[in-house]
Amino acid sequence: MTTQHSLGSAQQTVESIFAVLEEGSKKEYLGEDISQLEHSLQAAQQARDSQADDETVIAALLHDIGQFCDGQTAMSIMAEASDLKDNTASTNTVKVGVKGHEYIGGQYLRRLGFSEKVAQLVEAHVVAKRYLTATDKAYYVGLSSASKASLKYQGGPFSEDQVKEFERDPLFREKVQLRLWDDKAKVVGLDLPGLESYKDMTVRHLQRGSLQQ
Ligand SMILES: [Fe+2]
Repeated sequence: MTTQHSLGSAQQTVESIFAVLEEGSKKEYLGEDISQLEHSLQAAQQARDSQADDETVIAALLHDIGQFCDGQTAMSIMAEASDLKDNTASTNTVKVGVKGHEYIGGQYLRRLGFSEKVAQLVEAHVVAKRYLTATDKAYYVGLSSASKASLKYQGGPFSEDQVKEFERDPLFREKVQLRLWDDKAKVVGLDLPGLESYKDMTVRHLQRGSLQQ
């Protein structure tokens, strides 16, 4: 499904998705000392600093959006997923098992007209953590206690086969990189450009989204 965006509808979509992120950020970021908005902006800033392409920057900014979209949308996405057999609902190459906010986020962004690359990067930030904990002991040790706790219900570290399968994914490097930015995006008191600074890029992305599929 592809959503065609005029300039006006792209601007409207960006306004509404940024509002969802801001609204959600009023809630406490569970187990961390910064707000979700600060976390999202820090992840996106790292992507910018690395000269990542626009899709990767947008994915970094919106990687946790699945935690904030309205309940009805989240429920319809999960209902749609349970109608599909096995892992066909996931465009990632690895069987995800329990689907969480990352899956909702990816589907939500697809529905709004974001590119497949943005959706897949958002969907993968939990599987990338499972990959990294399986392949890098120091990575596991460095995780925050909240992130260590959530790993357990996210399915734990990947098996050897899952590691190999994940490494064959064409977006493997970007997926791992996004996860590393996510983990570092927990600095208290960092002063960074706000959501507004991502607006034009995201509008442009939505306008050309239909050409990228
Ligand atoms: Fe995150």
